[in-house]
Amino acid sequence: MCGIIGYCGQHRASEILIEGLKRLEYRGYDSAGLCLVENNNLVCYKRVGPVAHLEEAVARQDLGGHVGIAHTRWATHGIPSEVNAHPHFDCHHQIAIVHNGIIENYQALKELLISEGHIFSSETDSEVLAHLIEKFYKGSLEEAVTKALALVEGSYGLVALHASENKLVAARRSSPLIIGVGQDEIFIASDVPAILNHTKDVVYLQDGDLAIIDSKGYQIKNLAGKLLDRQVEEVKLSMEQIEKKGYKHFMLKEIFEQPQSLANVLAGRITDNQIKLSLNWHREVIQRIIIAACGTSWHSALIGKYLLEEIVGLPVEVDYASEFRYRHPLVSSHDLFIAISQSGETADTLAALREARSRGAQSLGIVNVVGSTVAREVDSGIYLHAGPEIGVASTKAFTAQITALLLLALYWRHEAGYEIDKKILNELRHLPTVAEKTLEANSQVIELAQRFMNFENFLYLGRGLNFPVALEGALKLKEISYIHAEGYPAAEIKHGPIALVDENMPVVVLATKNDLSDKTLSNIQEIKARGGQVIAIVDQDYEPVKKLADYLIKVPVVHVWLSPIINVIPLQLLAYYIADAKGLDVDRPRNLAKSVTVE
Ligand code: F6R
Repeated sequence: MCGIIGYCGQHRASEILIEGLKRLEYRGYDSAGLCLVENNNLVCYKRVGPVAHLEEAVARQDLGGHVGIAHTRWATHGIPSEVNAHPHFDCHHQIAIVHNGIIENYQALKELLISEGHIFSSETDSEVLAHLIEKFYKGSLEEAVTKALALVEGSYGLVALHASENKLVAARRSSPLIIGVGQDEIFIASDVPAILNHTKDVVYLQDGDLAIIDSKGYQIKNLAGKLLDRQVEEVKLSMEQIEKKGYKHFMLKEIFEQPQSLANVLAGRITDNQIKLSLNWHREVIQRIIIAACGTSWHSALIGKYLLEEIVGLPVEVDYASEFRYRHPLVSSHDLFIAISQSGETADTLAALREARSRGAQSLGIVNVVGSTVAREVDSGIYLHAGPEIGVASTKAFTAQITALLLLALYWRHEAGYEIDKKILNELRHLPTVAEKTLEANSQVIELAQRFMNFENFLYLGRGLNFPVALEGALKLKEISYIHAEGYPAAEIKHGPIALVDENMPVVVLATKNDLSDKTLSNIQEIKARGGQVIAIVDQDYEPVKKLADYLIKVPVVHVWLSPIINVIPLQLLAYYIADAKGLDVDRPRNLAKSVTVE
């Protein structure tokens, strides 16, 4: 949700900032801007739309500044426009800021500042930061930022500069910021990919940190001015991992990476007869599990409920993180709270985690991004190691999350003294190969996408573990193709949604063979009887489904616990190819951003 980068060094800042912004575009792409210090003046460019528009504008200039900040925006307060694009300035154009987060008391602060004579240009909450810093500026940017932040309520990743100080001052509260440490150059950014081309040595700022940066180095203090010692960590990410590698979109690349990401989440975690995880917990006291997450991660949480209840035998509650945090949940030290998050930065998930911990729950994170805030705040964690997920629509993180949940359930069962069935361990070992095989449906899905791209509504149906897969298939389609889609438990449609079924309603049915297949078959019959078109995901020649369905997508046969991982792959492909056939910007769907760091 908004990407920030700042630079202090020997090179032309503009090139480094634009390159960094492009790598942060997954965080927001409705407008972009940058500001450089040149001969004690602030030089600024802003453009509406993707970073490419800003790049074009900047390329025509000969910008020599070596200190600068830049921002790619996901609008919260104020429409996408040049005026609302960051950086924002004080009245005298001496101070510039870029901000990620929400200033909750901005109205009150704005009124105060206006009454003191400040003139505002934008509708954003962020602009108050620039004016507030101006209010306190008496020759030291560090001091002014510290004083300004004392009045601010809300969340921020903030970087500020002043025309006559060759430095950056950054601060973090609930929105991520990292410092990149180079040779005679220092970077600050929302995320590692922005600076990976320049350095792998990073410092993760923590809430309450203030960083003062110049080309020679940096200091980190708390808001009371006390110097803090934060470790420099070497990130294990390569440039190759964050490139498209010949794929048209990151989303397609990430769908095709699933054999590898599944291999990564399993690596070193399966032995001959058990699962190896290193968890720091008091398992014996846990009487209930609560899982909270958002979006796609919430869908894997629902699958986790089925798996954990069946395999571990403990009650599991699943919550939307955004609801959990505000509903005064009943939580005790006998609960294990699991936060699932690809980014590890989702504001609602983080707040739910903090709420649960404050009420005494033990916590566990299932997270992809190493070093992210959720990963740092939980008592124990399982990293997905799925590699960077850059496409806004989550794909490989989802299948890795389900795999991690299954590993957790089996691990726990073994800890409780039960043998783990060799068959499931064996199937887990072969999961990457099976995912590879599933991707062979690709060309068939391309044809289906051509056929169905102009339909305006879709239904997705599944039962048991595959009901959340239906939800996920529908979410994938709506978020990137803007086609209305709903997921339902297959049996539920007769309680209302079946009224929508006619020849204009394609219905995707997860019909892989399991205990409930006959029941799903009846649901297919009900749809056919009303003229609906059925696209069935099947795993073997199940004649009755074959006879009834209009289109079949065949996936390999797997244990039912693994079926969500395999069954979702053709649904990801279907959503992708429909959106692509419609000529849409798959990696940058409208109104969305990858890392949702605001409420
Ligand atoms: C959908 C999608 C979102 C995220 C959600 C949570 O494709 O990507 O629904 O799943 O915003 O994000 P994380 O998992 O980073 O907490």
